This record gives sequence, C-alpha cells and structure tokens, in this order.
Amino acid sequence: MSDDNAPPADQSPAIRIMAMPTNTNASGDIFGGWLMSQVDIAGSIEAFRRANGRIVTVAVNEFRFIQPVFVGDIVSLYTKVIKIGNTSIRIHVTAYAERNRGKDEVHKAAEAEITYVAIDENRRPRPIETEA
Ligand SMILES: CC(C)(COP(=O)(O)OP(=O)(O)OC[C@H]1O[C@@H](n2cnc3c(N)ncnc32)[C@H](O)[C@@H]1OP(=O)(O)O)[C@@H](O)C(=O)NCCC(=O)NCCS
Repeated sequence: MSDDNAPPADQSPAIRIMAMPTNTNASGDIFGGWLMSQVDIAGSIEAFRRANGRIVTVAVNEFRFIQPVFVGDIVSLYTKVIKIGNTSIRIHVTAYAERNRGKDEVHKAAEAEITYVAIDENRRPRPIETEA
C-alpha cells in the first residue's frame, strides 16, 4: 500500500463526510468502527456501479488505520477497482482526513481492501459482466 499522503487530484471521492461528536468512542476519539463503516459504504458504491446491481460485502481482506480521525475532520474516501473475478470484485479504499479547514492539512487516515459479491434476487452469487 502506498504512503502517499495527498488525495488524488484527478479523482472525486466516493463519499465526503464530517466526523461528528456522535461518532466518538468512550475516550472521546473517533470510533474505528465508524471509519470502517464509511470505508465499506464507499467501496460498496464503486462495487455496485461496476457490478451493475446488488452486491454484498464478503470479506475485509485488509484494513489499516494510519492516522487518527478527530471530531470536525472532513473525511474523504477514494475508491479503486483492484480485481474483478467471476462474481466478486475487490476494491481498494483510501480515507483522508482534512483538519483545520483552509490550512491545507490532510492526513491519510486509513487504507483498506474489501471484496464484494454480486448477488441475484435469491441472494446467490451472479456473474459480473466484463466490460466491452
Ligand atoms: C457473499 C455470499 C453470497 C457468497 O456465497 P458463497 O456461496 O460463499 O459464494 P462462493 O463461494 O461461490 O464465492 C463467491 C465469490 O466470492 C469470493 N469469496 C468468497 N469468500 C471470500 C473471501 N473470504 N475473500 C475474498 N473473496 C471471497 C469467491 O472467491 C468467489 O469469487 P469469484 O466468483 O469472483 O471467483 C454469501 O457468503 C453471503 O451471503 N454472505 C453474507 C454477505 C453479507 O451479508 N454481507 C454483509 C455483512 S453485514
């Protein structure tokens, strides 16, 4: 996984969201599970689009918390398709936390790889069409 700290300039995030006081743990820091949830949502948006329909998360293959997220940070999540199998699709997600807005302070907060499976109306895996 790359150590590049800057978000990709030529890409729009799948999600941009502010970390709120309700997302904190008992110590007052942003709860890791909140960030994992945002990462899963961002990955699922990309997977749904590419699989052209309903998908489910089958595995979190890798998840790394790199820097903490604080209340008030703007978290931007960028996605990239890593691999498309028969019914599965693996997505790389990077989360950046923008702090002290207007001061160009951005931290890479987390990186993850998540696998989704395209499913049919019976919740069974369905093939993902290959792009022409
Ligand atoms: C996802 C689900 C439909 C897969 O059903 P299954 O009968 O196990 O399907 P398969 O064994 O045929 O695997 C389907 C694909 O997933 C991939 N896969 C399965 N487990 C995996 C894992 N741990 N890591 C990566 N890929 C995995 C398989 O390699 C296969 O990919 P391919 O078709 O591209 O080769 C089923 O396990 C399920 O419904 N799980 C619950 C999903 C869910 O509710 N997620 C939200 C949790 S809150």
